[in-house]
Amino acid sequence: MDKPAQKAPRLPSPTLQSVGEIYAKCLNVLEGLRNQAIQDGGVRQSPRFPITRVADLVGRTTAAIREAEKDGRIAAVERTSTGRRVGYTLAEVNQMREAFGTRPWRDADDPVSIIAVQNFKGGVGKSTVSAHLAQYLAIRGYRVCLVDCDSQGSSTALFGYVPDLDIHEDETLYPFFRNMEMTSLAYAVRETHWDNLYLVPANLKLYSAEYELAARISRSEPRLLNRLAEGLASISDHFDVIVLDPPPALGTISLSVMRAANALLVPMPPTVIDFSSTTTFLAMLYETLQLLEERHFPVDFSWIRFVATRADEQKSMQRELLGLMRNLFGDKMLRTVLRDSAEIDNASARLMTIYELPSPVTSRETYVRGLTYLNGVNDEIETQIRMGWPSHAERLRAEGKL
Ligand SMILES: Nc1ncnc2c1ncn2[C@@H]1O[C@H](COP(=O)(O)OP(=O)(O)O)[C@@H](O)[C@H]1O
Ligand SMILES: [Mg+2]
Repeated sequence: MDKPAQKAPRLPSPTLQSVGEIYAKCLNVLEGLRNQAIQDGGVRQSPRFPITRVADLVGRTTAAIREAEKDGRIAAVERTSTGRRVGYTLAEVNQMREAFGTRPWRDADDPVSIIAVQNFKGGVGKSTVSAHLAQYLAIRGYRVCLVDCDSQGSSTALFGYVPDLDIHEDETLYPFFRNMEMTSLAYAVRETHWDNLYLVPANLKLYSAEYELAARISRSEPRLLNRLAEGLASISDHFDVIVLDPPPALGTISLSVMRAANALLVPMPPTVIDFSSTTTFLAMLYETLQLLEERHFPVDFSWIRFVATRADEQKSMQRELLGLMRNLFGDKMLRTVLRDSAEIDNASARLMTIYELPSPVTSRETYVRGLTYLNGVNDEIETQIRMGWPSHAERLRAEGKL
């Protein structure tokens, strides 16, 4: 009798092998970019602010700040060997806010603001808007948590991580979705190089959660749609604002995001294709809200805003569409548009935001223009957030914003 043929070890097919090789090379490139973004001392650093900017951020004059430094109420800032101030870190700015009593935190009775930056299309600027909004709010002194709900981990990457290398699935939302015994999401909330800005990172494994959740929800556990809301409730006492960056599709995670959020920000580039897909998004949103209501998980957004992203007003077609959008959405559309900015692109190529660029990559003018539009958009959102906090009503009136 013939000996049974020995089973040849299974070799990966050439296709599999070549995809694997390309993947490894890409990871290498990302690792290099991540390492470049690490500054002195081997860690990423958030920006420093000159004293004139600090005065504006803290709400006191430069003279008052110098006075407080002199009499020791606040720590004196580091100086160079020539006696020049190095600039204040965000942590130092926040210490000043504490000393001067100008922290803008919500009162315990004000509801935490949970903003879903959602559109079911990819590439519309969700992650860009989410990361920049979170950092802007941190600069303004709020306690912020950015939750990356997308397995592609773009927001996570903008904080200098290579999701596939640096993040383990146990550090993401994944375990919380899987394990109903868990009662707190605190395990996934990590500090960032920004004072008072925390991140729940994502990596590819979160993609499995989509399927697992879908299967369990359709079997018998509709309560799972509430899981993210439960997780956020377990950490919300520590924050003023939670920003959710969801995946670009209508799946169980996106449903959970809708359920967990109390405000909706829809980024939308002013092109016909994006307008069309946003219209589809609205149809799906309508059905989603209906479904959640039927399942006794009603969604209650205290505000919905549309923001034009990646806009180029030089293009007549875009100008026309912007006009149309303004007519359609009325005051639900932010007045400021987020322009397509070479500096935002340049920053993201360095796994950073424009708020972190140590100096302009193209020209000072392009950089300042990018920042101006971004700050305009974020300022409008900040007002929207504060309008939801009764303790801020008085101040908003005094600032002429109500
Ligand atoms: N205003 C902008 N100016 C220039 N580039 C932008 C702008 N907004 C987004 N981008 C770029 O477009 C790409 C997709 O943006 P991203 O925020 O990841 O979209 P999404 O999260 O909706 O998929 C990224 O490369 C990002 O850097
Ligand atoms: Mg994204």
